[in-house]
Amino acid sequence: MTTLAIIGGTGLTQLSDLVVIKREKIDTPYGAPSAEFVTGELNGKAVVFLARHGNPHTIAPHKINYRANIWGLKQLGVEKIIAVAAVGGISHQMPPAHIAIPDQIIDYSYDRKHTFFDDEKHPLTHIDFSYPYNQALRVGLITAAAEVNINVCPIGTYGCTQGPRLETAAEIKRMEQDGCDLVGMTGMPEAALAKELGIDYAALSVIANWGAGKSEGEISMAEIEENLHVGMANVAKILKAFIKAH
Ligand code: HPA
Repeated sequence: MTTLAIIGGTGLTQLSDLVVIKREKIDTPYGAPSAEFVTGELNGKAVVFLARHGNPHTIAPHKINYRANIWGLKQLGVEKIIAVAAVGGISHQMPPAHIAIPDQIIDYSYDRKHTFFDDEKHPLTHIDFSYPYNQALRVGLITAAAEVNINVCPIGTYGCTQGPRLETAAEIKRMEQDGCDLVGMTGMPEAALAKELGIDYAALSVIANWGAGKSEGEISMAEIEENLHVGMANVAKILKAFIKAH
């Protein structure tokens, strides 16, 4: 049974080295997931891939059906998720084109279906969420990055904003004061939903740009694309090394 899934975000709509075995549309009690689940082999090991924003990339962060995505992965027997996502860098250890493996989250998103525990079949349950990312999975990713000589930031607090617009400079300043090192739009409720279903979850955050107000001038889509291009090539190397070791 397949146990590892990779959720790809902006800049990672497909896993180019995946040898595809099957593509499955899965219907869930929560509606349709973002895309087909692609089951295949990477370095000879079974992996499921899901494009978070759809394939092609069209679904905005606040419109993603996070519950359907996580439910679908659970249906496929997934026990571990590596979530890849583009982020903005806030603290100085998080420059563009680098990768971070966050260990904490602050959630600023709103109006998202953020729990499975809200109907008769799934009565109210308060999960522990003190440590939102799975530590063993984080260590596995940090070790894999070291094996392929990629310098990653092994810690960081991810702040999840609503999007799709980027933040104001004042919002980033406030997030920095709150303790955020990174800013993204898709980390929540994804991480919490995985925890609700008992799936181990860790993230590879690819820094696409400095957060608003942290660099001169406006944030350009061209710089985001360029940094993601570099960062995603390193993500592919880390994933391969991780898979080889597991
Ligand atoms: N803010 C929020 N999400 C992001 C950013 C950002 O600056 N860059 C890439 N994803």
